[in-house]
Amino acid sequence: MELSSGNGFDIHVPSRMPLSPGRNTDTPGKQPDRLGDRMRSLARFLNPWTSRSPISHYYAIPSCWLCPGKRIPFALYGRSAQGEPVKILPPHRMYVPSEDGHDRETGPSRVFIRKESAPDLLHYLDSNLDEIIDHPLMDAAGKAEVFYYLAYRRLEAVYRSPGRLMLTDVKQIIALMIEQIISHPETLRQVYDLVQKNAGRISEHPRSTILHALNVGILSTFFVTTVLSHLPREIAEEIALAYFFHNIGMMLLPRDVVNHRGDLDNRAWELIRQHPRWGVEIMGRRYPLTPEMGGIIGGHHERLDGTGYPGALTSANLHFFVKTCAVMDALHALISRRAYREPLPLVEALREVRHRVPRGYDPRIFSQIIRVFRAYGLF
Ligand SMILES: [Fe+2]
Repeated sequence: MELSSGNGFDIHVPSRMPLSPGRNTDTPGKQPDRLGDRMRSLARFLNPWTSRSPISHYYAIPSCWLCPGKRIPFALYGRSAQGEPVKILPPHRMYVPSEDGHDRETGPSRVFIRKESAPDLLHYLDSNLDEIIDHPLMDAAGKAEVFYYLAYRRLEAVYRSPGRLMLTDVKQIIALMIEQIISHPETLRQVYDLVQKNAGRISEHPRSTILHALNVGILSTFFVTTVLSHLPREIAEEIALAYFFHNIGMMLLPRDVVNHRGDLDNRAWELIRQHPRWGVEIMGRRYPLTPEMGGIIGGHHERLDGTGYPGALTSANLHFFVKTCAVMDALHALISRRAYREPLPLVEALREVRHRVPRGYDPRIFSQIIRVFRAYGLF
């Protein structure tokens, strides 16, 4: 994407990531237009100045993204008294933060990088994720944003190369997410904010498919680890892995079938009905799938009354983990933008899913989801 904001803001690099929440807008409560919203949202993550500024070719980043005592692969800049960019650290030098790491006016201090350093910055964030998330000056919103974006980045890398699945990076981020769910519910609420706000923003496959997988993975893992708090960590991580990859089979579908507007013909439906099985085949070649994991990937479109696909299984043959994925998959699809319709607000989406209970979805799971979402203040 090569759009220009008219203020010198090149969104080419940031457009590769899901968008940050609307809380970044300058005027909370006001509903901005979509492009304006996008520009301001992205501005928080990689925050350029206006074209009138002499440093409009730079991004501002919070210094708590930089790990003390480690070499930084890109140059860092500050501002002179006249507002001019001043190099404060050449590339590949060890970063030593200021004493308290805070700017009196703006909270955690900020430094600047040149725009062309953005790919190096993303790689650096990805390589040092554990340490950055644990930074004492990182607030819940900051942690959520770094976590969410990097999870998307890692998931996208795997989804786009299903023949060469490298699951280590995704497994690491799943372990991190489960730790955040258990220990830091405020970060989880911020992550959910990102889930909901990004769900309605991307409609084109494959990015919409990958974002859907990320969001369903987060929602399902959050729900399961909350209601089954005794679940051993290694099992929770395996189940989460299946949630994140429940739709990997979609990547084998022709793009025009997934992005098709209007009614699908029989040939297209026949292909779509295969994607759960393809997903099990793809994942099964790379990972020793447990029956529960295979059930989630292969059964997330099954319905309790046997009207689902690909196996027309009924309730007795569907595990709790599978039924959970089915509800979250449907719920997230409703709050997502599609090529052929606008996204629904969460409350309306829940109402719509309730209409399909109990023939399609498990009523007890649906009630528990409502209870957990309420308890965590998600709606
Ligand atoms: Fe699916």
